[in-house]
Amino acid sequence: MAKNVIQNPKGMHDLLPADQPYWKKAYQRVEDVADSYNFLRIDTPLVESADVFEHQLGETSDIVEKQMFYVKSKGNDRLVLRPEGTAPIARAYIQHGMSHLPQPLKLYYWGPMYRYEQPQAGRVRELHQAGFEIISPEDDPVYDSQVILACYKSLESLKIKNVTVQINSIGCRVCRPHYRKKLVEYYKSKEKNLCVDCKRRIKVNPLRLLDCKNETCQPFKKDAPSLMDHLCSACRRHFKGVLEYLEELKIPYLLNNFIVRGFDYYSQTVFELFAEGVEYALGGGGRYNYLIESLGGRFTPGVGGALGIDRIIEVMKNKNVALGIRSKEHVYFIYVGDLAKKQSLPIINSLQQAGIEIFESLGKDSLGAQLRAADKAGVPFALIFGQQEAFEESIIIRDMKTGAQETVPLVKLADSLKKKLEK
Ligand code: HAM
Repeated sequence: MAKNVIQNPKGMHDLLPADQPYWKKAYQRVEDVADSYNFLRIDTPLVESADVFEHQLGETSDIVEKQMFYVKSKGNDRLVLRPEGTAPIARAYIQHGMSHLPQPLKLYYWGPMYRYEQPQAGRVRELHQAGFEIISPEDDPVYDSQVILACYKSLESLKIKNVTVQINSIGCRVCRPHYRKKLVEYYKSKEKNLCVDCKRRIKVNPLRLLDCKNETCQPFKKDAPSLMDHLCSACRRHFKGVLEYLEELKIPYLLNNFIVRGFDYYSQTVFELFAEGVEYALGGGGRYNYLIESLGGRFTPGVGGALGIDRIIEVMKNKNVALGIRSKEHVYFIYVGDLAKKQSLPIINSLQQAGIEIFESLGKDSLGAQLRAADKAGVPFALIFGQQEAFEESIIIRDMKTGAQETVPLVKLADSLKKKLEK
């Protein structure tokens, strides 16, 4: 790498041409899944008012406390680069009166999100997510399972094997406060042995105590009161419903009492998707019954999940997932002399319209340089168009393997090429 060259921002990556087939395949598969389950595409701006996230994700959540990219603009707007896609969709749902559309409203999105994290394996600052959301006045568990199914099917169609859904219920505004109280009582007695973060969590966000990865806190987590034992009967029924649907769908799941997720907007179901041999989650989500209400809308439950596309593409590469995209055979167009160069573009155009993909390097004048480029491109045929051919309205087709050449009239070029390429 050249010294003193301006670099891309830390944790943000160029998606170079060599990687594009992976991105294309991932996008196509997610879109196929979305279409087949009737999710409608929605796009919201990359920049949102900070108010969309600060309260909804939680003032004490890692994202709001440390990871938001605030945007400096000329006005006094408090704007941020969106760290996630669900709160903006809830904002758009209210703003556009989408409660008047047929419900459940099933939406999907694809795009970059921004989190100011310490970049490391599986963690970037510009991350890409594909997400599915179902918004509906009923909080039926069937919707939770449909969102999980869409995430699971997307991974399956990208040939990511042995995916398991880790799932939990974190209760509702009726039962969670009781549980939170019990949890705080339990942790208070251990306070002096806890890590610095957990000491703070007891006061500001006790549920996150269950999510601590610090070695010193693990023994306390093990014996902490279980959320599952403190769910109210409505939440227990809801959770049982979700699990029954997953069983019907034969989606492998694992109950994990320690999944609480990083945002405050969740209630009841929370889940993450893991693939065998991959240490970080490839996707996650949950139910958010109070999010729309907390943004100023009418009480409207929702449930959703998002896939981490950067992580998924890393797994596809490591596991050599075949891309199955047939590379079209190309031909190389070579010209000799000014007259031929002038007439080149319409010929190239007509071949492209006939569905033939063409490489060229019209900026190179020398025949030798163009032939070498054709050789490098590994094309089966080159077209050579010189002064004489321009006068005769013909062109030479050269077989790059054997060197055999044949002159054909321009009007017959597309047909002759197609026949040769099909052989
Ligand atoms: P999340 O768990 O924060 O959920 O992100 C979803 C997925 O995005 C993660 O499972 C992970 O694969 C990927 N991801 C997150 N952060 C990074 C990062 N720094 N670098 C690379 N990949 C990352 C949400 O964002 C929720 N909005 C999901 C949701 C939708 N909940 C309800 N609906």
